[in-house]
Amino acid sequence: MPDPVPDPVSVQPVVAPVTSAALFLVGTVEPGGEKAVRDVLPDLAAVARSLGFRYPDAGLACVAGFGSSAWDRLFSGKRPPHLRPFPELRGPRHHAPSTPGDILLHIRADRADLCFAWAAQLLDKLGGAVRIVDETHGFRYLDHRDLLGFVDGTANPVGGAAREAAIVGADDPDFEGGSYVVVQKYLHDLTSWNALTVEEQERVIGRTKLDDVEFPDDEKAADSHLALNTIVENGAERDIVRANMPFGSFEQGEFGTYYIGYAADPGVTEQMLRNMFLGKGAGSHDRILDFSTAVTGSSFFAPRADFLDSPPPPPGPRAG
Ligand code: HEM
Repeated sequence: MPDPVPDPVSVQPVVAPVTSAALFLVGTVEPGGEKAVRDVLPDLAAVARSLGFRYPDAGLACVAGFGSSAWDRLFSGKRPPHLRPFPELRGPRHHAPSTPGDILLHIRADRADLCFAWAAQLLDKLGGAVRIVDETHGFRYLDHRDLLGFVDGTANPVGGAAREAAIVGADDPDFEGGSYVVVQKYLHDLTSWNALTVEEQERVIGRTKLDDVEFPDDEKAADSHLALNTIVENGAERDIVRANMPFGSFEQGEFGTYYIGYAADPGVTEQMLRNMFLGKGAGSHDRILDFSTAVTGSSFFAPRADFLDSPPPPPGPRAG
């Protein structure tokens, strides 16, 4: 079977190795800032190349994505068919807010300074055209644990399965090689979480804490994180690729997980979110939400790299 993804060179580094640092920037495009943003797009890869060439072992990988309304302000022609604003969810107990986001910059490297340097160069070129509305500096914590103490990322698909899960294939030739991205910033209530026994925490997640072993399906609680995030359609599991990172501030007393999920079909991510917030079957909501509050939520499309090098013309003036 041919590789579902065509030319890997022109794909943004959506599926990239886990690094020890990441910087997540979400911005809004100021009115009138569209031209400046378009002018900077070809520089995204150039800046990454320049830094990546000098620090080849640092695993620098930068992905840019655009929100639904920004897409229409920046580009004429066809739009990614599944690009829509993040769907706000109000469940019986928990709320997933939908927050502003025109542009996402997801910057990964084994050195936090390179993430910072890439962002600094880009934002300098953008001038005042983009206002950063959320900035999260993530770090790898111990042996890939989140701040709840569990290993996060184990069940991610790898290799060809990861590309198939995360990157739009030949069934959409216009946007082949792109990826639908969802981000949410979660703050943990570590006091309540740490009041649970390890056994209770393991029941919330559906894996053991120390050794990271998945519970057998018939032993997973219906409201566990794993039970609600396992999506099976026609007998096959539907995957996404997650690149979550912990972050924290002692001064602000904020400790959290920055969730980022890449999908070829954002319907899979949205189904996971509905399961978590609205419940599924006997699970009225994901128990992880009793200890983790979503404070942001935005959806983007990260097009192929060659789209950024030569984007379609800007939209014409609106009629009327
Ligand atoms: C508070 C935020 C979150 C934390 C701390 C968290 C943590 C974890 C942990 C520890 C695991 C088990 C290890 C692994 O396979 O990665 C996991 C699995 C998973 N999570 Fe999350 N997660 C969070 C939010 C989300 C969200 C918002 C989604 C989807 C929209 C999601 C989707 C998944 C999926 C698909 C799996 C793998 C399930 C499987 O075993 O097949 N997570 N998460």
